[in-house]
Amino acid sequence: MSTSYSGPLPPGSVIGILGGGQLGRMTALAAAGFGYRCHVFTPEADAPATQVCAQTTIADWDDAEALAQFAAACDVVTYEFENIPAAAAALVGRHAILRPDVRVLAICQDRITEKTFLGRIGVPTTRWRAAGDPDALARGVAETGLPAVLKSARLGYDGKGQVALVPGIDLAAAWAETVATGMASAGQPAIVEAWVEFALEISVIVARSAGGDIAAYVPVENQHENHVLRRTIAPAAITQALAAKAEWLAKAIAEALELVGVLAVEMFVGGDGALLVNELAPRPHNSGHWTIDGCAVSQFEQCVRAVAGLPLGPTRRHADAVMENLLGDEIARWPELVADPEVQLHLYGKNEARPGRKMGHFTRLRPCR
Ligand SMILES: Nc1ncnc2c1ncn2[C@@H]1O[C@H](COP(=O)(O)OP(=O)(O)O)[C@@H](O)[C@H]1O
Ligand SMILES: [Mg+2]
Repeated sequence: MSTSYSGPLPPGSVIGILGGGQLGRMTALAAAGFGYRCHVFTPEADAPATQVCAQTTIADWDDAEALAQFAAACDVVTYEFENIPAAAAALVGRHAILRPDVRVLAICQDRITEKTFLGRIGVPTTRWRAAGDPDALARGVAETGLPAVLKSARLGYDGKGQVALVPGIDLAAAWAETVATGMASAGQPAIVEAWVEFALEISVIVARSAGGDIAAYVPVENQHENHVLRRTIAPAAITQALAAKAEWLAKAIAEALELVGVLAVEMFVGGDGALLVNELAPRPHNSGHWTIDGCAVSQFEQCVRAVAGLPLGPTRRHADAVMENLLGDEIARWPELVADPEVQLHLYGKNEARPGRKMGHFTRLRPCR
């Protein structure tokens, strides 16, 4: 349990996972394949990851003693979502190796620090301005123009904490609406972004090892409905030159972050073929689920390899894939899907099928184009 250990973790070692959702669950399943034991920290009893882990700590993010004990019991700790309170992550980082580093988490958990970082390393994004109060929002919109979108800088996911700003909109009301989501408030930062008329959305999942090796998966197309990922098509139907550029951008970002782990880079492809980076997620990502069935090494195994100090595995795909999420009630389709010989079905062990909740996913494979 040294905080400076960086060699490969032997089988039997303990990987800590902050967060108990499906990403942690699938990471733990991959870790088990190398004989690792996972210890999940989550405030939620019976969370998806806890059902497949050797150990769990059920405690709140502000429970310093539970966090310290958890960290001391792990050989390395990673996280499966980026909205962990920074203080909790920093505390864990004092007692264990945290991968990706707490610095990476800090950059990626705030849309303003994230876009500032991307600008500093020369990665293109849409025009944006910080909009921490109605006046700043009005000044910001003067720069971005309309349409635009107002987003809470922190805690948003699946479109939560976002309000569309159309021409003629009452900005004060839009501000109040964002505040009403509970994810922004006076003093809690928000951001206004110019709306992008994208041709399609793509993402690249990139991994970087403790030794600095980098590997990326092929860019995929992501189709959203109501701001939630509906399906991922692998590979994205884009030119080879654009795919190479997207991969290059993702690798440059991972390098600049000195990432150890996996990172999803969401991008917009403009009508003119220009690439704009939308957001970063320093963890496995919904758009990488197809890699479980379509690639030699999945994003989850790759994450385990990186955080455990192992060499990265090959990212090549043996099939093209279409991955679809099962949201809310759609979970009722499971008997039909599990009987379909063309489908690989993955369910997350969630009891309550709330509307829009990610209950599972399924992947159809096709021979590579
Ligand atoms: N500036 C923008 N222009 C066009 N579409 C956007 C913009 N920002 C977000 N969106 C749409 O909303 C989706 C969710 O927004 P995103 O910033 O990725 O937040 P999150 O995934 O954290 O909810 C995006 O995938 C995209 O479809
Ligand atoms: Mg997103």
